[in-house]
Amino acid sequence: MRVTEFARRRDQLMAQLGKGAAVFRSAPLAVMHNDVEYNFRQDSDFFYLTGFDETDAVAVLAPHHDEHRFVLFVQPKDPDKETWTGYRVGVDAAKEQFGADVVYSIDELDEKLPQYLTKADRIFYRLGRDRAFNDKMLQLWQRFMAMYPRRGVGPTAIADPAPLLHAMRQIKSDHELEQMRIAAKIAAEAHNRAMAFAKPGRYEYEVQAEIEHTFRLNGASGPAYPSIVASGPNACILHYTENTRKMHDHDLLLIDAGCAYGYYNSDITRTFPINGKFTPEQKALYEIVLEAQLKAIAQVQPGNPYSQIHDAAVEVIVDGLMDLGLLKGSKEEIIKEQHYKPFYMHRTGHWLGLDVHDVGVYQHDETPHTLEPGQITTVEPGIYIKPDFKPAEGQPNVPEQWIGIGIRIEDDVLVTSNGYENLTEAVPKAIADLER
Ligand code: GLY
Ligand code: MN
Ligand code: MN
Repeated sequence: MRVTEFARRRDQLMAQLGKGAAVFRSAPLAVMHNDVEYNFRQDSDFFYLTGFDETDAVAVLAPHHDEHRFVLFVQPKDPDKETWTGYRVGVDAAKEQFGADVVYSIDELDEKLPQYLTKADRIFYRLGRDRAFNDKMLQLWQRFMAMYPRRGVGPTAIADPAPLLHAMRQIKSDHELEQMRIAAKIAAEAHNRAMAFAKPGRYEYEVQAEIEHTFRLNGASGPAYPSIVASGPNACILHYTENTRKMHDHDLLLIDAGCAYGYYNSDITRTFPINGKFTPEQKALYEIVLEAQLKAIAQVQPGNPYSQIHDAAVEVIVDGLMDLGLLKGSKEEIIKEQHYKPFYMHRTGHWLGLDVHDVGVYQHDETPHTLEPGQITTVEPGIYIKPDFKPAEGQPNVPEQWIGIGIRIEDDVLVTSNGYENLTEAVPKAIADLER
């Protein structure tokens, strides 16, 4: 099933390449320190098209080649090296397991690659993190250009495959949805456990441990991004990851944590009172963020412009802050001049999938992207009043009792054919469910 799904993706991409051929490079190993590396994680585009998850590989899609439309270059078997770093699939098994028309050792790349590009009119290749490989592709292209006058054929351009490929990645298949649902479910369980576990006197990292323990225990490969466990004023730092503070009575705790299951990610935020009771100010702001999130989620409908999600959240937040006297003046003016930005400085969501901030456009020139079934977006409005809060020009100073409150609520929402499905609704967010 999986092999055919990868083949279907390759066919779908190849049908859009015209007379071009595409080259994809695997992810490099990332260094942790000295000669110790992080666990390998394949490049998402490479994985999406091949399912192959080793480093130092190259995939070629050559729709016009007579025999070989899908070519893989992989690390050859090497028992001595495999003793240290783990088994490699190797050339022979890769052909069968990954459905390539031909597989070569990566050592043969310079010799074998040109034949697959020589009649293409373009090379689809995305300049990536592997600078040496970028150079190799540019030099190869230069050689083709030098030969062009005598041959009258060959690639005259390098083109980015991303607009084609990333539009495909934006729409999740049934198999991808299965993975996403599992990632969502595991993260939901982790949040529920964290809520039960958090109490005044514990440290943020203890809650982090509870969350990440739940991830691994349920088969997730780990956090989808560094877990944010932010108590009290730390919640006003959007990507706070130190997680070192001792939590106090009357603090809110903002947890933004999701897991990677297979290659797919979840991304959930909840904010709740550690002692089980909101203060009046915390509750007033929480109600605004929750209403903003619910109204924004309601905009997740096929055919709606993506920007409508953010616009709906901003409108509720501005109304709410005006009611509390924290913003003053004309609502239209506040929105147009973005005077709410000191409280709410980020967008309301992002695509989610193989990458946490997944690929795909949000806008086509000036026109917002239109939601389609199979897309998954986060919906994550917030309000943050940090200790050194500065209001926008002409706006009032914020009284002391509001300072240090940070709130965000985030769910992962799938666009369906007739509306939406909230993949992460198993984590409570209603005030009645958070108070005890
Ligand atoms: N956790 C990163 C984000 O919510 O975008
Ligand atoms: Mn998040
Ligand atoms: Mn997010």
